[in-house]
Amino acid sequence: MKSYHRLIFLLGLLLIFGVAGCSSEETVTNVGKLEFEQALKIPELLEPTIESDGTKHFTLAMKPGTTEFLPGKETDTWGINGSYLGPTIRVSRGDKVSFDVANQLGETSTLHWHGMMLPPAMDGGPHQMIEDGETWSPHWTIDQPSATTWYHPHLHGKTAQHVYRGLAGMFIIDDEDSEKLPSNYGVDDIPLIVQDKLFTSDGQFSEDDDTPYGTLGDEILVNGTYDPFLEVTASQVRFRLLNGSNARAYNFGFTDGRSFQLVANDAGLLNEPVTLDRFMLSPGERAEIVVEFEPGEETVLRSYSGGAGIQSGEFDLLKVVAASELTESSPISEQLSSVPPIEVPEDAKVRQFKLTMENEINDKLMDMYRIDEVVPAGAKEIWEIHNFGPEHNFHIHDAAFRVLDINDKEPNDYERGRKDTVFVPAGAKVRLAVEFGNHTDLNYPLMYHCHLLKHEDEGMMGQFLLVEPGTESQVPTELPKDDTEHQHNEH
Ligand code: C2O
Ligand code: CU
Ligand code: CU
Repeated sequence: MKSYHRLIFLLGLLLIFGVAGCSSEETVTNVGKLEFEQALKIPELLEPTIESDGTKHFTLAMKPGTTEFLPGKETDTWGINGSYLGPTIRVSRGDKVSFDVANQLGETSTLHWHGMMLPPAMDGGPHQMIEDGETWSPHWTIDQPSATTWYHPHLHGKTAQHVYRGLAGMFIIDDEDSEKLPSNYGVDDIPLIVQDKLFTSDGQFSEDDDTPYGTLGDEILVNGTYDPFLEVTASQVRFRLLNGSNARAYNFGFTDGRSFQLVANDAGLLNEPVTLDRFMLSPGERAEIVVEFEPGEETVLRSYSGGAGIQSGEFDLLKVVAASELTESSPISEQLSSVPPIEVPEDAKVRQFKLTMENEINDKLMDMYRIDEVVPAGAKEIWEIHNFGPEHNFHIHDAAFRVLDINDKEPNDYERGRKDTVFVPAGAKVRLAVEFGNHTDLNYPLMYHCHLLKHEDEGMMGQFLLVEPGTESQVPTELPKDDTEHQHNEH
């Protein structure tokens, strides 16, 4: 009797919660409420110092501050070298880079380089903790095609909060191909970090994450700017879009219905541009588009409702105003990336990952000491993501992939290039051709996880080691627990 009652009660709760969730979600919008009065902030390009061996050395400090988003209201925020978000880092393939990442937050954090191919000890995931007052100094050589990547904290259990408070920034990698596109930062090459926020009545960030997906905001910040506009001065402008939100997905388009060229997915340029008028990014995903402007015209970048859950709501993001005289840019090349699409060998290893209702992967929650997969360095494998729950997405560290199919059908035309994060619709099966990094490490695992940050924090994450090919079976599947130093990276 007792358990019967409990079941009815739970079903009732589910129904009420579900219905309330849907009806409030469907009506969330800021359309018609904005004036587009604040000039879009462009994160500064961080200048490196050049060391004697040519290494570009960057200094970052994570710290609390306050930021005025809503006119007249100061919001408590976190930032990197500033009060909200961080500077843009821009380097070229082949560059040696090093960082000093100082933690002045008053609590432990990490800084992860999302989309970067690098030695696992430099990855900045949950194992490279930076204690309050400490400085972490990773270094590596940039060795991957041009891409729009990003950085953000990755402390297990705290990622959602740390990112939401403002710790994130863009990390741009150039190569000879990327220079075929508009590349004048802040002029015709514009970063757009899109984040939804919930504000309390006194203008503070509300960390209310009471939806199955985590925090879903009803206001939008672009590069930390509320109510933004941008004046462009070139006839072709490249926008680098990063969904830096905790949970919300955006279905981007322009209110005048114009089309544009998609030129890059998360992990690099497309081989050829694709003409589109809409595309979707779930949390952690990036895309680059090139948009043509006529002198004097105006349009609004909007996110259209793409369905329920994280795709619900309609939001104006940015008004773009073209100056009355525009610098003529040359038409963009039909040949962008010279990197061939990722292919796997006939006998490629296939791994399966089951995403569940309970936010588990293969029926397990994240365990910092458990190694879930052992992957030969440089391997090309097929990873099958089968979602038995509601919407999730899937990101792999130190890897790039191509989406082979979604429910046995071709992926959408905006997600056919090199990627590192993919949206996984409710109930869907997504197959990926994955290319892994070349650096081996037996002590520091890499992560794969749902990039809906509440899910990730709740344990929707697994760990893999990259090892010398042929040694997979000799690798222990547990990390040593007594080794407290293990949690700290060498300095
Ligand atoms: Cu953007 Cu494992 O993260
Ligand atoms: Cu990552
Ligand atoms: Cu998820």
